[in-house]
Amino acid sequence: MPKGNPDKAATSFTLTDNASGEKYELPVLKGTVGPNVIDVRKLYAETGHFTFDPGYTSTGSCESEITFIDGDKGILLYRGYPIDQLAENSNFIEVCYLLIYGELPSAKDLETFEHRITYHTMLHEQINYFFRGFRRDSHPMAIMCGVVGALSAFYHDSTDINDPVHRFIASTRMIAKMPTIAATAYRYSVGLPFTYPRNDLNFSENFLYMMFSNPCEEYVVNPVLARAMDRILILHADHEQNASTSTVRISGSSGANPFACVAAGIASLWGPAHGGANEAVLNMLEEIGTKDRVPEYVKKAKDKNDPFRLMGFGHRVYKNFDPRAQVMRKTAHEVLADLGIKDDPLLDLAMELERIALEDEYFIEKKLYPNVDFYSGIIFKAMGIPTSMFTVLFAVARVVGWVAQWNEMIEDPTQKIGRPRQLYVGATQRDFVPVGKR
Ligand code: CMC
Repeated sequence: MPKGNPDKAATSFTLTDNASGEKYELPVLKGTVGPNVIDVRKLYAETGHFTFDPGYTSTGSCESEITFIDGDKGILLYRGYPIDQLAENSNFIEVCYLLIYGELPSAKDLETFEHRITYHTMLHEQINYFFRGFRRDSHPMAIMCGVVGALSAFYHDSTDINDPVHRFIASTRMIAKMPTIAATAYRYSVGLPFTYPRNDLNFSENFLYMMFSNPCEEYVVNPVLARAMDRILILHADHEQNASTSTVRISGSSGANPFACVAAGIASLWGPAHGGANEAVLNMLEEIGTKDRVPEYVKKAKDKNDPFRLMGFGHRVYKNFDPRAQVMRKTAHEVLADLGIKDDPLLDLAMELERIALEDEYFIEKKLYPNVDFYSGIIFKAMGIPTSMFTVLFAVARVVGWVAQWNEMIEDPTQKIGRPRQLYVGATQRDFVPVGKR
């Protein structure tokens, strides 16, 4: 069925202009599950009015078949499959296939897909010189933004966005090369020699190898950590029309180069209200320092005159619990147990913060619960990953969502360049006054 087909119209809304008494019929479109949407595409042409929705709190920007979220019930589905089932039974590569193609692969298709990803993990040698141009203390997200954007200068054979083969090659390259870029950014910052991917390891094992191996000894991958990493990647792989995904879609809507669009997504993800929250959680826990200071910080978070927010709490869509956070909480305990970390002061502090915030009237009333970033930072820290790398790992996972959504957008026959309008509240037309007469 073509996208935006009026056959999907569930009912309609009647809009009345109280000034003129004129009535307008607005179709209501029905999805397979979730709230219906009022189709306002003809609103301006018919009424001369725009809608006003800063932050897009009530706006559906596109049709999508990829990810579904029910924020009240704490449901997250990738192509219909619940996130907890995927986290428990699948692996990141299979989830990449699912998000991109819409169905779980056969064993043969999975093998072919994994082979393709594996054989695209190496970076063009010239790209390594880009890393060396950065200061050693550069934030790895800054490096990742720059290097992924620079990929657009390397792959001229995959930039016809209207060719599905080109799109597939560009998508494969991005999914495959992100861990190598992330690991190289890290190694550069600590002065370790750059390393090359190993094709005998799976995606997550290879990532840990590229991060932590050193040329002087054999690196043995810890299976519990590799499994935890894989699970974290699955949990972060897509999240429907969040800020970074919408950034990738809106950048791509102009027909822009896909690598450059993903670099824009990385920039958006970096912010502390989005993917940067996992780093911010750790920084916040370190600032709080001891359990007895938790009430003081909870008080600050509730103070309207204080800009401080409890990082890792709250979500635009989840208003009961974040299903990713539940899987992540379990994984955090598994990792700490495997590493023999019994009394981690930071984890104790996090648990105390979680306990107090969950019992607090302010957080209950505003439906602020721990989100995925609250726990992921604790796991990353236990694995020995530096705080500045946390959001980079989010990007390694989310790139699959970005490319799946970008491909869906390009294939959508109703797709148009993203071009919101505004409510102008500035000066009305006035005549220019030369500087000497002002
Ligand atoms: N601490 C204290 N108060 C908060 C918090 C918080 N973490 N989050 C929201 N509030 C309050 C906020 O002050 C507002 O109060 P009031 O109604 O009195 O003005 C109310 O709750 C609603 O907040 P909002 O900012 O209008 O809600 P939003 O949907 O625009 O923001 C959010 C969602 C995630 C940006 C916000 O909850 C936040 O800043 N959380 C901390 C950062 C964080 O953990 N982000 C990661 C999100 S999950 C990963 C991802 O999606 O990238």
